[in-house]
Amino acid sequence: MTLHEEIRYLQKKHNAVILAHNYQPGEVQDIADFTGDSLELARKAADIHAAVIVFCGVHFMAETAAILNPGATVLLPAADAGCPMADMITGGQLRELKAQHPTAKVLCYVNSTAEVKAESDCCVTSANSVAVAQSYPPGQEIIFVPDRNLGSFTAEKSGHTFFLCPGFCPTHARLTVAHICSAREAHPGALVLVHPECQKPVRDAADAVLSTGGMCRYVQERPENTFIIGTETGVLHRLRKENPGKTFFPLLESAVCPEMKKITLEKILWSLRDMQTIIAVPEPVSLRARRAIDAMLAIH
Ligand code: 13P
Ligand code: SF4
Repeated sequence: MTLHEEIRYLQKKHNAVILAHNYQPGEVQDIADFTGDSLELARKAADIHAAVIVFCGVHFMAETAAILNPGATVLLPAADAGCPMADMITGGQLRELKAQHPTAKVLCYVNSTAEVKAESDCCVTSANSVAVAQSYPPGQEIIFVPDRNLGSFTAEKSGHTFFLCPGFCPTHARLTVAHICSAREAHPGALVLVHPECQKPVRDAADAVLSTGGMCRYVQERPENTFIIGTETGVLHRLRKENPGKTFFPLLESAVCPEMKKITLEKILWSLRDMQTIIAVPEPVSLRARRAIDAMLAIH
């Protein structure tokens, strides 16, 4: 049997669904039953009726799936695939921030641990952070963790007072305005799309600021044929596959998240064969974290 056939055989045997984030290696996206951004994957994980979910992404995503679908066994094929940004704030640090700003609501990016989600009023993703913030009345103070860049983007768009914390994505932090200037020179007329995890000067120099799922929809709606993509390069695989008549260039070829690339086809196979690594969240934390995730899903 080929690797693909073995994976399909084990998938059927265990009644498993394979989910992949848009940043996953191309061959992983291709074998997945569903590929999407963080919000789309959270919705999908909540709705899946399968015994097993193989989550091809990083730890916090598998954890979110386990919280949303406690009846399913959630497997992360690379046990050590984490998100450095998610580890930039702890539950204890968030409790200190809450004590400093007792009337503020807490919004937390899904790129966070279950413990941090459990301390939050509502989760957000890069696709819905502005809509979630706008659901609060004018004048609402908001503590936003852990990403200072998505936080400042959301603050600008919503007009609320935000208390930010210093977290950031090391991969998106590498994208600069100089990269945008050189890309515009090399590809005149191309539209520059960047992710809200980019720093403000980069966001301001781009034509649009979008989540990875937002980018996939945007390029289909636009008449332009050439796009510069300012995010982790994995999404280019999906953009090229879905839009064979259009041309996509990465803003920075080396903008690769090493954590997202830890998953391989072999690891998916071993994960299904050995039922490893199971991601589970202790019930008291899971129930409180779920309130924050459900609050998000109810808004957008
Ligand atoms: P999306 O919210 O666009 O899925 O990507 C955010 C991200 O960095 C996932 O790690
Ligand atoms: Fe975390 Fe950035 Fe990698 Fe996303 S791309 S998983 S935010 S380090």
